[in-house]
Amino acid sequence: MATQSGITIDGPDKPYTIVSNIPRPTPGPKQALVKCLAVGLNPVEPLQQHTGLLITEWPAVIGSDFVGAVLEVGPECARLRPGDTVYGCAPLGQNRFAPFQETFLVEEGVVLKKGDNISIEEAATVGAGLLTAGLCLLAGAGLKLSDDGTRAPEKDEWVVVFGGAGTVGQFAVQIAHACGYKVLASCSPSKDSIALKSGATATFNNRATVDDQLAQIKKVTGGNFARMIDTTAYGYDIMVKALETCSTAATKYLTSVDDWSPFNTPSAINEYRASLGHLCRLDESTGAQVTQDIAGWISTFEAHLGTGTLRPIEYQLFDGIGWESVIKGIQELESGKAAKKIVVRTQAE
Ligand SMILES: NC(=O)c1ccc[n+]([C@@H]2O[C@H](COP(=O)([O-])OP(=O)(O)OC[C@H]3O[C@@H](n4cnc5c(N)ncnc54)[C@H](OP(=O)(O)O)[C@@H]3O)[C@@H](O)[C@H]2O)c1
Repeated sequence: MATQSGITIDGPDKPYTIVSNIPRPTPGPKQALVKCLAVGLNPVEPLQQHTGLLITEWPAVIGSDFVGAVLEVGPECARLRPGDTVYGCAPLGQNRFAPFQETFLVEEGVVLKKGDNISIEEAATVGAGLLTAGLCLLAGAGLKLSDDGTRAPEKDEWVVVFGGAGTVGQFAVQIAHACGYKVLASCSPSKDSIALKSGATATFNNRATVDDQLAQIKKVTGGNFARMIDTTAYGYDIMVKALETCSTAATKYLTSVDDWSPFNTPSAINEYRASLGHLCRLDESTGAQVTQDIAGWISTFEAHLGTGTLRPIEYQLFDGIGWESVIKGIQELESGKAAKKIVVRTQAE
């Protein structure tokens, strides 16, 4: 059996170990074997290392956002060919799909093909952020991106995004903007230029009191909003209050990245929670729905990333190439010192 190098974890809260005996996977009919070129780091990596969340086999290989070169394709692959560069977010918890190893598998229906207008490092910033924002806004709040990559005509309606300067938040702002909405985004005051650069029309302070945030939402939108997305997991109570007391819409949508806390949303509000961690878990109803939704948006996302209506986000490239650098990058992420998304190159092209 061919083996390869990568990072493994022996159990919850066990250290990252660099090994060279990971079995090299073989692609199934609609899968491709991909050489890992770069990874983007997300909060889910330290979360999985500490808790074992969503991990189904030990020792575990983890990783979420990736860019890779297609080496081999399964017999029923129609979109991908050897030599293509692909990117996206890996299905979590199954070693054969995990990017923190030399090669891993992708399901061809849920990955993006990289165009020449995006670098490898930029592509590593896109996966989880774009797909999670897509789940909340397209599946959860009924927004629709044009098929041809153009921005929809301007609408006289606001979408409110909590966390417009975070990874998921920047993509949420971009999607709402591309769908033609005016976007009001919350963020730390020092980061409002990030949210504005993504397409927000106005921002408010996400550390202000609940009353102050509600007052800002009411003042800026005049109540002319039906859809709110929380990309921070801190915004639920404010969203419920804002939708109940400020919004003048007849149909209201509350969407969130928080799929773990108890919610008690009033029945008059449509609630949706993203579950990207269930991608490609086709034996679960949530996993099957998430996978079907994302597969249906891939060509649209590629069109918008091609025209630049949707764009990769700013990143910091971590020093060095390889697994040591990935582990140091995760430590930097956990320290809370990283001002931008961390990207790490894992192997030369
Ligand atoms: N359920 C799913 O499918 C799914 C998928 C992906 C991610 N997630 C979760 O989504 C969350 C965001 O992920 P991410 O990758 O976008 O992380 P990120 O880039 O680190 O962004 C974190 C966001 O949280 C905000 N924030 C931090 N502390 C806050 C506080 N005390 N009050 C209000 N806002 C605060 C930050 O705002 P400022 O930086 O402007 O202060 C920023 O917008 C994480 O909890 C992640 O685990 C869930």
